Amino acid sequence: MEPAEAERLGPLLLQRSQEAKVAAYCPYSRFAVGAALLTASGQIFSGCNVENACYSLGVCAERTAIQKAVSEGHTSFKAMAIASDHEDNFIVPCGACRQVMREFGRDWDVYLTKPDGTYIVKRLEELLPLSFGPEDLRKL
Ligand code: THU
Repeated sequence: MEPAEAERLGPLLLQRSQEAKVAAYCPYSRFAVGAALLTASGQIFSGCNVENACYSLGVCAERTAIQKAVSEGHTSFKAMAIASDHEDNFIVPCGACRQVMREFGRDWDVYLTKPDGTYIVKRLEELLPLSFGPEDLRKL
């Protein structure tokens, strides 16, 4: 995001990720995560982690938000904020989520936050360098 846009929308995105965390369905890990995804058109889609008694079927908050956005016709993203209850660490996306995020571009911002509202911003390219994506398939 441009600096002016980040100043305006960053705090909102962070707040929406914290709100999304409230709905987390995580009876097994007790590790609640929320995500808020800003589309190029300015809409925000949120998501939480949704676990399952068959543990491996659990889905992370980041992918929930992406699937909600894509299934509503949005594939161009500007930023995502991620929130957890972990006081000491900035929450980071897992490797699977990084790859799913990368499907939709390498040059958007990911806000890694703490519950107190502090955050660091990373470009997707930084989180997943030398990544494999749709463009690579087209090189064949
Ligand atoms: N989780 C997320 O939703 N996002 C992350 O960035 C890290 C982990 C979820 C998956 C699982 O439900 C729980 O947190 C513990 O790993």
